[in-house]
Amino acid sequence: MAIDRITGGRPLFGTVEVQGAKNSVLPILAATVLARGECVLRRCPDLSDVRASAAILRQLGAKVHREGDTLTVDASCLTGSEVSDQLMREMRSSVIFLGGILARQGEAVMSFPGGCELGPRPIDLHLKALRALGAYIQEEGGALVCSAPALTGCEITLALPSVGATENIMLAATAAKGTTLIVGAAREPEIIDLQNFLNAMGAQVRGAGSSVIAIEGGRPLHGVEYTVMPDRIVAATWMCAAAAAGGDVELCGVDYRQLSTVSAALTEAGCTVTSTAERVRIQSAGHLGGARMVRTAPYPGFPTDAQAPVMAALAKGCGVTVFVENMFEARYRHVDELVRMGADIRVEGRVAVVTGVPRLSGAKLMCTDLRGGAALLVAALSADGESILEGLHHLDRGYERPEETLRALGAQVERIEES
Ligand code: EPZ
Repeated sequence: MAIDRITGGRPLFGTVEVQGAKNSVLPILAATVLARGECVLRRCPDLSDVRASAAILRQLGAKVHREGDTLTVDASCLTGSEVSDQLMREMRSSVIFLGGILARQGEAVMSFPGGCELGPRPIDLHLKALRALGAYIQEEGGALVCSAPALTGCEITLALPSVGATENIMLAATAAKGTTLIVGAAREPEIIDLQNFLNAMGAQVRGAGSSVIAIEGGRPLHGVEYTVMPDRIVAATWMCAAAAAGGDVELCGVDYRQLSTVSAALTEAGCTVTSTAERVRIQSAGHLGGARMVRTAPYPGFPTDAQAPVMAALAKGCGVTVFVENMFEARYRHVDELVRMGADIRVEGRVAVVTGVPRLSGAKLMCTDLRGGAALLVAALSADGESILEGLHHLDRGYERPEETLRALGAQVERIEES
């Protein structure tokens, strides 16, 4: 089991090329099952969730290989339509494969994705929408047994802008006869990336980024070369690291508009954030004020995935910030670990009140989930003394070699593979 050893208190300086977006490449990998040909994905991050998706694609009969940051998927001959229980448990967001497998194979079997560290992760909106398109889905013994002899386009209104449900509908609708309209669609930038990928394959998808998306089904889809968008949550995480530790860091290849709510919170706390078309620069003296109020919401609201790293950055300082986590029930699991470092955080249901303290102390820390783990990394960089971070498998789901990135910025962090 690996651990990270971090010595805090060193400001960060330099430039970061941000990795490809996990939450874009996962639905894009699911979409490759639709292509009767080879898809070449550039800027594909080497993450455990990507490796889990590659295992699912191979289980379905696709050929997958990686060369550097390029992943090639050939789904010309798909032989399967089942995702094993073991792979579903490895990555609960594998449910995003359901729409694509149904579209390509006309049937699909996968176990019901359980909850995760963030609490229950229902998929009722996914199932309701796929049934509306004509899929027969039986939920038996913890498995989803699905068949879709014919999918027919229709208008689907989502009760809430679920990212995964929007993506599953987009994939299934490419094989539905006629037009599918998603009303109340998620507006995340990753949805736009998926639309661009599908259209490059020969699909006709319009409206991503707005709350109404139209998909013309029935078009043959071919292989394509595509570059995945940069990861806005990883970018936000490195901004929080610079805000907390102090310094001057520039992020390259990012769209500053996707970071506007995080930039606003860190600016309110005393950082200086300047942006050009594809670069965001953050300067910080390392001692922050508060950001008053941070409410998570569907895009373009404050991203729930950035809540934990931003909280870690604001834990050391002299201000007060009230967080309201509106997206997930259990997304404050990092708080107890931050309190062990000396943070002053009070949680009441969905509300967490963070009162900045003059300093945090290094400690032995356990990652609780992906973004909670990122928060502990941020806090350790700004703490006095040494921290040991365990449970790195959570981090590995979404961050590609984070220790290398931070060391290049001047941080003292090393990963120790324990025998
Ligand atoms: C995606 O998850 C992201 N994951 C999450 O990122 C992100 O936090 C989330 O969107 C919100 O932005 C990927 O893209 C792989 P949702 P997803 O469906 O699609 C409820 C990370 O850290 N809901 O938009 O699962 C659900 O319970 C991860 O990178 C239903 O009630 O999120 C939640 O409260 C964590 N029924 C809310 O909607 C459904 O059928 C938003 O979920 C589906 C969702």
